[in-house]
Amino acid sequence: MKTVFVTRRIPESGIKLLESKGYSVDVSPKDGVLSREELVAALKAKPYDAVLCLLTDKIDAEVFDAAPSAKIFANYAVGFNNIDLEAAKARGVIVSNTPDVLTETVAEHTVALLLALASRIPESDRFTKEGKYVGWDPLLLLGTDLSHKTLGILGAGRIGARVAHHLNRGFDMNVAYYDVKRNEQLEQEYRATYYATPEEVLAIADAVTIHVPLLPTTTHLLDKGRLAMMKPTAFLVNTSRGPVIDEAALVEALKGGVIRGAALDVFENEPALAPGLAELSNVILTPHIASATEETREKMGEIAVRNIISFFESGQAPNAVDK
Ligand code: GLV
Ligand code: GLV
Repeated sequence: MKTVFVTRRIPESGIKLLESKGYSVDVSPKDGVLSREELVAALKAKPYDAVLCLLTDKIDAEVFDAAPSAKIFANYAVGFNNIDLEAAKARGVIVSNTPDVLTETVAEHTVALLLALASRIPESDRFTKEGKYVGWDPLLLLGTDLSHKTLGILGAGRIGARVAHHLNRGFDMNVAYYDVKRNEQLEQEYRATYYATPEEVLAIADAVTIHVPLLPTTTHLLDKGRLAMMKPTAFLVNTSRGPVIDEAALVEALKGGVIRGAALDVFENEPALAPGLAELSNVILTPHIASATEETREKMGEIAVRNIISFFESGQAPNAVDK
């Protein structure tokens, strides 16, 4: 019987699927992220054949070596920057992720954040609930239209393309994008314009949304200098990975009126926030929940598990990420 270690409780359906296929499943009993020591100790406790891990688990050589018989680590996330792929490859370990199933959910959250920023929904909600609404006022809480303006997309993969779809089809936004490679379908379907540098997109966009993976080349993609290239009226939304933005520089930019507002679902030193970030009124913060719908979190578990099952049945994990 194959045994699988799951580093934290996930929706039941994935676990049930494994059990129905005869796997023995151990789910970490801790209601929280395992520390490195706890993770290593848990993996050494039994000769596990597979590990289902989360984006909050840092998986590197030491962790792989604590589970020498585990030949697949299925990450419960589309992003896999938490896993050292070189170390995996050196040990012949397969790493898989959960693409596609969360694309629509993350795109919806991204659009929700942008609309909330432009329409100043959290501020208005607070204002109203605090009893400050004393009568209609032509100048009260003025927001910004998005229709017919320019959406700048940094990273036009599946999620970026879906955000383009909503905002182009729904709001007639013009789409300008930067990616390391062109996305011709995006250009055809939404008349998107490709720019070979992020700077060109930042300079013309009224709203910038980030959908790149976290890599050495995308770390601090938005630093002080690039934030300064944005329009002072522009909004920035990030549902990718926190370190893509220099968060301290963003706080300064928001305070100084360099850009108009930002909405973040991810943070540079998650779950910590950069000093001053939470005090700003032109910022919306959500706790890394862009993929967090009941349906999607279940599907992510099922996809992670299907990669494990398929790996043992056929030697192939359909969502193996390669390096
Ligand atoms: C969430 O951040 C993911 O990568 O799935
Ligand atoms: C990956 O992040 C994607 O865009 O699907």
